[in-house]
Amino acid sequence: MKLAIRNLDILFGTRHTVQMEELDVDAGEIVGLVGESGSGKSMTASAVLGLAQRVGATVRGSITLDGMELVGASDAVLRTVRGRRIAMIFQSPSGAFNPVMRVGDVFARTLKLHGVASRSDARARAERALTEVLLPTTALDRYPHQLSGGQLQRVAIALALALDAEVLLADEPTSALDVTVQAEVLELMTTLRTRGLAVLLITHDLGVVAEVADRVAVMQAGRIVEVGPTAAVLSTPTSEYTRILLASVPKMKSALGGGSSGA
Ligand SMILES: Nc1ncnc2c1ncn2[C@@H]1O[C@H](COP(=O)(O)OP(=O)(O)O)[C@@H](O)[C@H]1O
Ligand SMILES: [Mg+2]
Repeated sequence: MKLAIRNLDILFGTRHTVQMEELDVDAGEIVGLVGESGSGKSMTASAVLGLAQRVGATVRGSITLDGMELVGASDAVLRTVRGRRIAMIFQSPSGAFNPVMRVGDVFARTLKLHGVASRSDARARAERALTEVLLPTTALDRYPHQLSGGQLQRVAIALALALDAEVLLADEPTSALDVTVQAEVLELMTTLRTRGLAVLLITHDLGVVAEVADRVAVMQAGRIVEVGPTAAVLSTPTSEYTRILLASVPKMKSALGGGSSGA
């Protein structure tokens, strides 16, 4: 298993924010993690990245990357994992980029930092990755503010490809984008799947999950209340909470037969 979470317990003081028994993401798989705002999705991602402690949380349990334990790992280990073996994209792409660095410099710096490529090789690698996400290589000469939100998400995905990342954590990657651009970014998630990445797609939007996720885990108040193949969870949800979530998505409701979600 590429990413395996077991008995994850994230606390703020004595308050349990996340209590997750089990969640796996395999290579070449997109797993959707859904739930309403505040259910603990982003804190779960923070724990995977070894960043939850930085905001004052206590993390217990096990999170393994290819069998390597990340909970309690040293800063040195986590630095080699974060942004390299585990890439991430967030809701606000502009916030993820240094405004005074050209995109090409971001690639050069990141690839060099992680020992993936020298400065001269970085350019070629970056150009290949940008082509894969259907951006012109001239994007390398642009500053973040010269690109749209959708283009910046493409750049972030290209960076994951250029780094040969194994896992992608995508936290609400399409929430700030308009619908047509959303679809294009989701399409790229499937490219990552083809490339063998393990993708954890975090969203409050079941419509997003329905588009691309192979499996879906539904979170409520820090716990997974339902997990299974996407088609099965969406067509025949077993938890009442999933039914409520489904009923709140208009297009899902129609897919289920006009809102007979209580049946
Ligand atoms: N820095 C913090 N201090 C205390 N509680 C926090 C902090 N960050 C998040 N939380 C709590 O963790 C819970 C889960 O938050 P989060 O993972 O961001 O939810 P989601 O991403 O599902 O919207 C929230 O209810 C919030 O109160
Ligand atoms: Mg969140």
